[in-house]
Amino acid sequence: MKHLETDLIHAGTEFNSTKAVVTPIFQTSTYFADENPEKYIEAATQPKHPEFYHRHGNPTNSQVAAILAKLEKTEEAIVLATGMAAISTAILAAVKSGDHVIAQNSHYSGAMLFLKDFLSEYGIEVTHVDQTDNSSFVEAIRPNTKLIYIETPSNPNLDITDLAFVGKLGKEKGILTMVDNTFASPINQVPTEFGIDVVIHSATKYLGGHSDLTAGAVCGPKEFIEKVWRKSITLGASLSPFDSCCYYEAENSFTTRETD
Ligand SMILES: Cc1ncc(COP(=O)(O)O)c(C=O)c1O
Repeated sequence: MKHLETDLIHAGTEFNSTKAVVTPIFQTSTYFADENPEKYIEAATQPKHPEFYHRHGNPTNSQVAAILAKLEKTEEAIVLATGMAAISTAILAAVKSGDHVIAQNSHYSGAMLFLKDFLSEYGIEVTHVDQTDNSSFVEAIRPNTKLIYIETPSNPNLDITDLAFVGKLGKEKGILTMVDNTFASPINQVPTEFGIDVVIHSATKYLGGHSDLTAGAVCGPKEFIEKVWRKSITLGASLSPFDSCCYYEAENSFTTRETD
């Protein structure tokens, strides 16, 4: 049987184009233009291309993202500068003015500020529900509901949301579901196994593990991660490759689960 630890050691190694055994920190803002103009255009326009310009992509970051996608069992992932960057960029990739979001009464305070104050300024309505009551999610649905945003266990109350219920509801109603999985970490909870579409992390916490970096991640289907990437290159919260490297070491040191 292939163990998750094995998968994680090898995930994303294709982004290390050098012969270095340890993933190098690609400390560069930009890359030489390819002599072939078509290849250069490809690098400039391909989502998350790791060798064009740092805000677009970086090989160290791409490797960390590949490991996270393995952990969260998603097609792809993108790493950003903080957990709040991950939350705000992902939500802005999912909704626009005129849309409606269902969120919880209990969220990390920064996420709550974003949901309550920021989104309303841009014409996006949010209904907050009691996350321990499944029927409250159903009752809050409107014709323009485009996103159910949850966090479980929530910070700081440790309120729990029924992931399987929300995942199924989203699929039935055609509404995107997104969870902040920071507190559980993918070692204890893999939300995509319960039908949730997108998983967010403040890697500043358990994924980083040592209180020595701030970072965030969004894991999800390829198509959605491309949308997040498109928002991220204009919002600009790209992760430093130094922090990415610490994060890579931490991720590889805490895995104990087996893959099936
Ligand atoms: C559950 C949760 N999500 C998101 C965040 C925000 O993360 P960051 O501080 O990395 O922006 C935090 C920070 O405490 C958190 O606890």
